[in-house]
Amino acid sequence: MKKVEITLKVNGEDYELEIEPQRTLVEVLRETLGFTGTKKSCNEGECGACTVIMDGKPVASCLVLALDAHGKEITTIEGLARGEHLHPLQVAFVRQGGIQCGFCTPGMIMSAKALLDKNPQPTTTEVRKAISGNLCRCTGYQQIVDSVMTAAQEMNK
Ligand code: FES
Ligand code: FES
Repeated sequence: MKKVEITLKVNGEDYELEIEPQRTLVEVLRETLGFTGTKKSCNEGECGACTVIMDGKPVASCLVLALDAHGKEITTIEGLARGEHLHPLQVAFVRQGGIQCGFCTPGMIMSAKALLDKNPQPTTTEVRKAISGNLCRCTGYQQIVDSVMTAAQEMNK
């Protein structure tokens, strides 16, 4: 199949790529650009493991064609830490037990970040709604909600 040229802006850097038009954003992020922090699990938009932020909104990157992400601003989990300094959400997930096996964590944190970017002081109900598309088999969700609330408090200090 004929390849197409696209530019992806990921974590503030521009990447000019030639890709097959049927490739999804999660495939290009992981396999072409090496951003393997974004996980691929169901590949059907059901689990949220592949969540990234695109133009300010959380999206399941397995449901987005890379072609449709051309020119958009994409943030992955790799874009959160600043050098040695983890993002407050990452710190809170570690401290509050919001991370266990860790497979859901990158997607969970990206959904939480999209929420806190828009709503810096969410209620627990708003947090639960924001992560409702992200499945976790390990934590029972309470520690994740606690982690997001703790991060919000830290970020508002
Ligand atoms: S891998 Fe995309 S939602 Fe599950
Ligand atoms: S920590 Fe294991 S799936 Fe969420």
